[in-house]
Amino acid sequence: QAKLKASILEINRTAARFFYHTLYTPSGAAGLQYFHSRGLSDQTIKRFGLGFAPDSWDSLARYLRSKGYSPEEAQMADLLIPRRSGGHYDKFRNRVIFPIIDLRGNVIGFGGRVLDDTKPKYINTSDTMVYKKTMNLFAMNLAKNAKNGFLILAEGYMDVIAMHQAGFGNAVAALGTALTPQQARLMARYVPEVIVAGDADEAGVKAAARDIGILRDAGLKVRLLNLPDGKDPDEFIRRNGPERFQLLVEGAEGDVAYRLQVVKNRFDLTTPEGNVGYLEEAVKVLATIDNALECEIYAGRLAQELSVSRDTLLGQVRDQRRKNSRILKRQQFREIQKQTAGYTD
Ligand code: GTP
Ligand code: MN
Ligand code: MN
Ligand code: MN
Ligand code: MN
Repeated sequence: QAKLKASILEINRTAARFFYHTLYTPSGAAGLQYFHSRGLSDQTIKRFGLGFAPDSWDSLARYLRSKGYSPEEAQMADLLIPRRSGGHYDKFRNRVIFPIIDLRGNVIGFGGRVLDDTKPKYINTSDTMVYKKTMNLFAMNLAKNAKNGFLILAEGYMDVIAMHQAGFGNAVAALGTALTPQQARLMARYVPEVIVAGDADEAGVKAAARDIGILRDAGLKVRLLNLPDGKDPDEFIRRNGPERFQLLVEGAEGDVAYRLQVVKNRFDLTTPEGNVGYLEEAVKVLATIDNALECEIYAGRLAQELSVSRDTLLGQVRDQRRKNSRILKRQQFREIQKQTAGYTD
């Protein structure tokens, strides 16, 4: 088992070298051109070990064979795929390659992106003996050494790489999945705070809303980067430069402000009904804040914004908390009932 894992890691490293070197050969020119067109320097390409999988069914397969690896081993690394008719073909073809590296520096998997707008845009290594996508974060091997006291969590490979190139070496990304509790706990081992820098589109906002809860549950402080509409960190930096991005990082507000804004957007504040609705939903948000001081500050802001008394608002928050704890108790009670349902004595 341990031997098998070691050999998968070795194959991955060999493949990563192959992909990287290919960039600087004629069969990789399109990949190098692609990275350059997206603003990446050769230094950045090297730092991340980016590469190119040629437009061929078997260039990696042949290379690995020439290095003495069997197709069966390469298949366990999810680099080769078996054909029904026998034989194998390369999983990554005509794609730029992003190696995924763990905290010990092992190459554990790969992401690959098309050069145009063909679908699927990205493909990734499926889980293998050495790669569990829910347990790892892209670029955490680099970001763990960046001593800023916080990490920046983005959606995509390119966002992370653009941020590192722009001087934000503390950027990481989940690997093409929703953020998991394990990934949040991994971050919490290194920093007390995470700035969520998701895409400013509908999917990104939804994902950020979900990530907040997962990060909080891991004991992390959460702030949110407010990108202009439609943008992701990579596009923003390309268009506006690192200095403007730094301002966004500094201006990132706590998750409470963010959640209140999300709630606010749902209501028409020119009508009384809209204001009542906003207030009711805002109270629910405030009722989830554990820190009493933080809660009072937001209550004060809201009270002013909606011209209601702060004490009335805080009273409602208390009511909501009581309601929540009753609901929680009922849930716990049901859990216990369920757990003991099987017992007859
Ligand atoms: P670029 O277009 O290269 O800038 O990528 P992006 O990171 O901006 O892509 P997008 O915002 O569409 O998606 C964010 C992340 O989700 C990507 O970096 C991938 O990790 C993942 N992702 C996007 N498209 C796909 C896909 O087609 N398949 C899979 N498995 N993951 C995807
Ligand atoms: Mn997106
Ligand atoms: Mn992008
Ligand atoms: Mn994006
Ligand atoms: Mn995009």
